[in-house]
Order: sequence, then structure tokens, then C-alpha cells
Amino acid sequence: MEEYDAIAEQYRDSKRLPFRDCIERYTLFELLGDIRGKSILDMACGDGSYTRLLKQAGASNVTGIDVSSEMICLAEEVERQHPLGCKYVHQDVSDFVTRETVDIVVAMYLLNYARTGQQLQRFCQVCHDALRPAGRFVGFNDNILSPRQGTVSWRQYGIQKSRVPNPKEGDAIRYTITNSDGQEFQFKNFFLSPDTYRDAFQRAGFQDFRWLDVMLHPAQRGNPFWDTFMTNPPVVPFAASR
Ligand SMILES: C[S@@+](CC[C@H](N)C(=O)[O-])C[C@H]1O[C@@H](n2cnc3c(N)ncnc32)[C@H](O)[C@@H]1O
Repeated sequence: MEEYDAIAEQYRDSKRLPFRDCIERYTLFELLGDIRGKSILDMACGDGSYTRLLKQAGASNVTGIDVSSEMICLAEEVERQHPLGCKYVHQDVSDFVTRETVDIVVAMYLLNYARTGQQLQRFCQVCHDALRPAGRFVGFNDNILSPRQGTVSWRQYGIQKSRVPNPKEGDAIRYTITNSDGQEFQFKNFFLSPDTYRDAFQRAGFQDFRWLDVMLHPAQRGNPFWDTFMTNPPVVPFAASR
């Protein structure tokens, strides 16, 4: 059983936490720009919340892929109730075989599931090979660059992260999420060093991999509530192109 099979609904409900819209979603769509008419693969799509948003933003076709059958069930259930034309595939991204290349690959929190440099490189290779030449790869990741260590609380945002000080390759990072209704749930990511990430992107054939800054929705700028998040973000966006 996949980790997310047991927490699928709680994870879906965590989409109501304010950082999701004000920072995560805003940053992703700023980075993507105009996606009208683009073909997109949403790797590790979860319950399909971004798959749907990408389609609603005008993408010509969007396919979501996830290893958790429960997450895919949630995504397909919404598609049945409110059809948008999103497609979903229940599969490990590592096993994904490209039939037709796409304009954009999105990976919101996929790469941080790699426990070794080899696994990370496999994820990167699959995402690279799925892209047409000059196609873009955009996503979010656990912030492996964050200088804060041990158990760190971003409690006001519903996030707590715990990892050993000076983590080694493959060490677990435990996330505890507290949803708006007070429900708590946990999942694990895995630490790999910035050098391992750079290496994996390079070996996969990406030219210009870079970590980026999170962006705050303009309506929230100047609101001190976001200061801690913006100065020490628990998650980090990235972009690369083929
Ligand atoms: C933190 S959730 C993010 C879901 C979605 N991208 C979002 O942002 O709403 C991480 C997702 O990655 C999926 N996942 C983890 N490892 C995977 C793999 N090897 N292949 C496909 N999906 C994977 C999990 O099942 C889970 O749905």
C-alpha cells in the first residue's frame, strides 16, 4: 500500500490551507505563464487539484500520473462529477514510458520521494524524455536548501517538519500537516543534497536547472503573517528546460 492511500482525503483537505493558494498555486502559475494550448503531464498529480487547474487555465490536454490508487480515485471521482477532460494514470513515475512528448511537465512534490541519487535521476530522466525539445519542467520540492534543522515549526501555516541535524543522503524528513479543521496527518520525504539534485538534472539532459524563490500573491503582500514563510520557506520551486 502506498503512503498516500492512507492519507488521501486529509491531503486533499490540506489544499484549503492558505499557503496553498497564496504562495504555492500563485508561484506555480506565475512560473508557468500562459499555458493556453499546451500539452502537460502532471507527475505525482495526487488528487488532481493541479491537473484540473492546469486544464482550467487553458492547457489543451493534461494527464496526471500518481502511484497512489486512492489519490487517483479522488481525481477520477471529481472528473466524473465535473468533467474537464483531464486524464489520469495509476503508475509509478519511474515506470512511465513516453508515447508522445509534451510542452510542459509539472512535478509538484515528486522529486523529494527519491531516496537515492539513482532514483532521483530516474525521475528526472522520465520527465526530461517526456518533453519536446525546449519544453519546460516546473515544480515544487521539499526545501532541501533550508538552513534550519531538527524539528522546525511553521505552525501558523499548518506545517511542521522534522529531520535529523546534518541529514545524510536518503534520510527521512517527516512532515506533519495540521489542516484548517485541526486534523493532523503525516508523510515522509527524503533528503538528497543540492549537489545530487544538480547532478541528476544534468545527467538527465536538462540545460538550465535552477531553484527559484516562492512568490506571494499580490493581495497578501505587506501582510506580516507571511514573513516567516517568505524568509525561510519550507518548500522551494524549481524550473528547467530540455
Ligand atoms: C505531496 S503529494 C502532492 C500531490 C500533488 N502533486 C499536489 O501538489 O497536490 C505527493 C504525491 O506524490 C505521489 N508519489 C510519490 N512517489 C511517486 C512515484 N514514484 N510515482 C508517482 N507518484 C508518486 C504520492 O502518491 C502523492 O500523491
